[in-house]
Amino acid sequence: MQAHERATRSRRRTAGVTVVFTVCAAAFCALLTRAAAADRRGDELTYTNAAGVLRTMHTSGVIDRTNPFFEDLGANGRRCVSCHQPAQAWTITPEELQARFARTDGLDPIFRTNDGSNCEGANVATLDDRRRAFSLLLSKGLVRVDLPMPANAEFEIVEVDDPYQCGGPTAAASVYRRPLPTANLAFISGVMWDGRESAAGRAIRDDLMQQARAAVVGHAQGAPPAEAQLAAIVDFELGLFAAQALDRLAGSLSVQDARGGVRPLAIQPFCIGINDPLKMLPSMPGACAAPSPGLDANAFTLFGAWDHTASPARQAIARGERIFNTRRFEIDAVPGLNGGSADPVAAPIATGTCTVCHDSPNAGNHSVPMPLRIGIADASRRTPDLPLFTLRHKATGELVQISDPGRALVTGRWRDVGKFKGPVLRALAARAPFFHDGSAATLSDVLEFYDKRFRIQLTDREKADLLAFLQALKEPSERGRQ
Ligand code: HEC
Ligand code: HEC
Repeated sequence: MQAHERATRSRRRTAGVTVVFTVCAAAFCALLTRAAAADRRGDELTYTNAAGVLRTMHTSGVIDRTNPFFEDLGANGRRCVSCHQPAQAWTITPEELQARFARTDGLDPIFRTNDGSNCEGANVATLDDRRRAFSLLLSKGLVRVDLPMPANAEFEIVEVDDPYQCGGPTAAASVYRRPLPTANLAFISGVMWDGRESAAGRAIRDDLMQQARAAVVGHAQGAPPAEAQLAAIVDFELGLFAAQALDRLAGSLSVQDARGGVRPLAIQPFCIGINDPLKMLPSMPGACAAPSPGLDANAFTLFGAWDHTASPARQAIARGERIFNTRRFEIDAVPGLNGGSADPVAAPIATGTCTVCHDSPNAGNHSVPMPLRIGIADASRRTPDLPLFTLRHKATGELVQISDPGRALVTGRWRDVGKFKGPVLRALAARAPFFHDGSAATLSDVLEFYDKRFRIQLTDREKADLLAFLQALKEPSERGRQ
């Protein structure tokens, strides 16, 4: 309720902006030349980029730049915003990082060797050294995450094929991951790609407190900040929403009864398990009070009103939304879902859809904490810039090769190898590359992955429509490639 009132207040203040941008669709080319230029209009932050227009708002009505999120709380000059930039939908992108590197000769605080470089403590004496040392950050926006092997893990690391030969201990693993956005966190059901900052039965808000503490100590190499500062950061994060507001081809995403853009998102209802196909109802604060009735495959209901518009670009987005919701394919052998005896589903799901996993209404993340192995880190997809770990089950001797052990580094369980959470799919705009390891440079690459992995056999037309839809949540610039 409160969120709704606040959003209404914000809407009044910014009504003028909507008009400006609707009219602007025609004059969009002029805007494109101002790459990533930020504009503060009313209480919203608006960024233009080649993709379209990304907009961010806070439910308090103000994006408070004095929040400790923007402050130097540690010892190495890093701030949360160093890796969670508003113009990149609150993460970072290679493009922006390369510009930052050029601007500062690779000396901006994000370029620190505690976790920004491929190897811990890399040599960063000269500009060339730095370009080499931070190559994964610069090429894919990947940050090094060092994780110890959990005590009593069911497996051990027997070999690491490490392109950088960092020479770390095998009692720990260095993996490389994309920063997750710090907006739209009101929808998440687990914190971090591997859920490691989520404790069983704990509220997401408390997980985020712990996460922020760890971020200051880890990324910023500081002392743990005061509880009040952490609470201020978490309140800031939980009220922050970001979404694509304007599409280069379709114009404003919230006209003719469409409900794209950031303001409808900020009042989108959510509780954990809200549209969970398996009705798992995890016992944790914030879970839905009554079991959900099972999957409403129509998880996205933003653009149905555009079915019969005159605009071909809008029709394509509407068709793409329907494909995302209802196009059937078989979901088979996904550990965490139906890939093993411990999994909740025993057989392949013949009537699968994207929304079986991306079920949160109009947000698109998994509404329950349920890390899955869809195969992103599998050896078959490993590129030479990433490490390849060989893991051995201590009892059975079974071997597996994987570029990131994922959830298994949190639980120590063999069956959790390669599992990651299904992230929020809003504000994909301006934040390529995708997946935890940035392995999909574009949304087309994402679709190619799914088409192959689940043998969907999407037609060219279906792919084009799906892209149009995802691009309304993200970059329209890819559409020209179809
Ligand atoms: C050096 C870059 C860097 C800095 C600085 C940084 N983060 Fe992050 N952040 C990341 C990476 C990388 C991840 C994903 C790591 C993973 O999942 O293993 C992440 C994930 C998160 C998430 C998880 C979101 C989700 O959907 O689960 C939150 C919340 C977050 N960061 C908040 C913060 C806060 C608050 C600060 C400042 C105190 C901060 N970050 C500073 C890189 C950074
Ligand atoms: C079996 C569950 C499952 C199905 C089905 C599924 N996804 Fe995913 N999706 C995931 C998981 C898990 C991730 C995170 C994987 C990773 O990064 O390791 C993900 C990631 C993504 C991302 C990247 C988001 C980001 O921030 O990097 C996009 C885009 C996406 N999925 C779109 C789709 C589309 C489109 C479909 C249907 C064709 C689909 N997904 C079907 C589970 C699923």
